[in-house]
Amino acid sequence: MATAPRDRLRYSNVAIVLHWAIAALILYNLASGLLRPLLPAGFFQFHVSAGITILLLSVVRVAWRLTHRPPPMLAMKGWERGLAHAVHFLLYAAMLIVPFSGWALVSAKPPAGSPGAAWSAAHPPASHDPAPSAKPPRPRGPTMIWAVVKLPLLAPVNTIGREAEGVPAQRALRARIETFHMLGGWAMLALVLLHVAGALKHQVLDRQRELARMGLG
Ligand code: HEM
Ligand code: HEM
Repeated sequence: MATAPRDRLRYSNVAIVLHWAIAALILYNLASGLLRPLLPAGFFQFHVSAGITILLLSVVRVAWRLTHRPPPMLAMKGWERGLAHAVHFLLYAAMLIVPFSGWALVSAKPPAGSPGAAWSAAHPPASHDPAPSAKPPRPRGPTMIWAVVKLPLLAPVNTIGREAEGVPAQRALRARIETFHMLGGWAMLALVLLHVAGALKHQVLDRQRELARMGLG
């Protein structure tokens, strides 16, 4: 009973564990995605596995959030409360949409063994490699999640390229999804920065126990 008022100021342990597990994976995915050209190639290696894990954990987290009441918010101005709610909502949206767009991105290739796959291997995209003969097309296996589970591909995006005629349209779609995924990554970075700035403002400037709500301290 004595700890009740304090408990009411903290998120549940499930929410706290999910928050920090997802945050760590998102920071890795933002770094590995946005800094890909600057970092060693191996750093990107777990991007897809981490991203699918983010998607699954985020579905669990949203379900948890919808079925559990969060602790009442700290005292703050009306506009701060509104901004915090808006940023949290947009973060949840990005936690679902950005990894889903990544999944669509890796699905946008002709199904293995299809006529489209054979045509695609024989007709690499013009901009892809200035000297195609130098690099024979490498046969790519299925996309694996943590080297254990085969990632099912999203059929609507995948099967467009089943026949050779569909491959150019699929490539154009892939380019659009890639742009979307990249812009989603930048938007997510902006939201995370705003979110951390807000948390630190309440913790440091307003001298409130903000971080303790998410299990820190
Ligand atoms: C990197 C990715 C991150 C994501 C996607 C994220 C996402 C979220 C979301 C969606 C909430 C709202 C919880 C609710 O439903 O009420 C939240 C709360 C919170 N986050 Fe994060 N977060 C991230 C990183 C961080 C970091 C680095 C900090 C530490 C500075 C932090 C501190 C907090 C705190 C203190 C709360 C509780 C807010 C409140 O007072 O209600 N988060 N986070
Ligand atoms: C929250 C999760 C994720 C974030 C923040 C994220 C972020 C990014 C960013 C910023 C890029 C660089 C985009 C560019 O410059 O073109 C990228 C690339 C990429 N992402 Fe993600 N991503 C996430 C999840 C996923 C998932 C789940 C997958 C696949 C299942 C995925 C697959 C890819 C691929 C294949 C690329 C390379 C694109 C290319 O061919 O150039 N991502 N990601």
